[in-house]
Amino acid sequence: MSEQAPSLDRAAAARPLPKPGILDIHPYVPGKAKAEGIAEPVKLSANENALGSSAKAQAAFASAGQSLHIYPDPRAGIVRAAIAERYRLEPERLIFGCGSDEVFLLLNQTFLEPGDNMVQGEFGFAGFAIGAYACQAEVRRAPEPGFRIDVDELLKCVDDRTRLIFLANPGNPTGTWIPFSEVRRLHDALPPSVVLVLDGAYGEFAADPGFDDGLDLARTASNVVVTHTFSKLHGLAALRIGWGYAPAEIAEAVERIRMPFNTSIAAQRAAVAALGDEDFQRASLEFVDTWRSWLAQQIGGLGLDVVGPSAANFVLVAFPKAPGRTAAEAEAFLASRGLLVRGLGMYGLPDHLRFTIGLEAHNRALVDALADFLKR
Ligand SMILES: Cc1ncc(COP(=O)(O)O)c(C=O)c1O
Repeated sequence: MSEQAPSLDRAAAARPLPKPGILDIHPYVPGKAKAEGIAEPVKLSANENALGSSAKAQAAFASAGQSLHIYPDPRAGIVRAAIAERYRLEPERLIFGCGSDEVFLLLNQTFLEPGDNMVQGEFGFAGFAIGAYACQAEVRRAPEPGFRIDVDELLKCVDDRTRLIFLANPGNPTGTWIPFSEVRRLHDALPPSVVLVLDGAYGEFAADPGFDDGLDLARTASNVVVTHTFSKLHGLAALRIGWGYAPAEIAEAVERIRMPFNTSIAAQRAAVAALGDEDFQRASLEFVDTWRSWLAQQIGGLGLDVVGPSAANFVLVAFPKAPGRTAAEAEAFLASRGLLVRGLGMYGLPDHLRFTIGLEAHNRALVDALADFLKR
């Protein structure tokens, strides 16, 4: 993806040519949703919420049916107010996007020009880099020894053309996390001109007291943006709504390029209801906590290496390279049993699979199928 094609004379071309770099981008490959010959496969490939979503959020979504002819509030006022109140944040410093994906895209577009670079971990979430490449920027990938972000490696990548660092904590697809002391050390060592984006898509699932999503740091720092999503804990992936908390100057700059109606009325209403449904949030967190430990223990018991411990709603598992036992073969075997999991070739992890924590029956079916696969 980082190789740039030689630049062509676009004016002399016989047909319109995209700008350099665009055709080098690998389009995002989502987690599989279909299995051949199986009507209703179990989807454990996209880190969705196994418990679904809050009944209150579903009712709020349904209420939007009366308003389909009306443009949504461009400033997502009701969600802005709800998040500001819940986290004690200044409303004007919030950015809303069509998923947090769009917040990443907007940050890339706001800060990167050709020749600049963006830094992320080796296994950084694919959504960060696409927008950077589209800005004709370089993407630098810092090694993640032991599948964990290494602050010193990130810092080694930073130079005077670095404009952004994206850090998902916990990471996807690794599930690992770094303590806040390390995030602070990274921030302290960065030039003030570099924006540090702390992606907390899975932050709610990280229960260790050493974890912190960085909102308090972002309150006073002039170069920290914290992002969150309604797709994971709140189970609203279909509605595409996420947010960022940024310094006022950054929020104001981003606002200039954000398309006005980027979050729908249905998404805004459902997000407010989801945020208010603490029972659903608590049930989701307890559920993930219970089944994540169980899954890691069971899969480890089968002799497979589980990366981690995971602090997210999925686990990353290493497979042997031996023919008959590989990750690709396991993925196909599981699909034949109707279990869709995430192959990670696009992350440079062809020997790993990622399993989202599913419902009890699905987690048990996964472990049984893996046992059968390894016994073949
Ligand atoms: C690390 C990470 N950040 C952000 C996102 C994007 O979430 P959203 O649905 O808000 O665009 C994902 C989605 O899988 C993710 O894994």
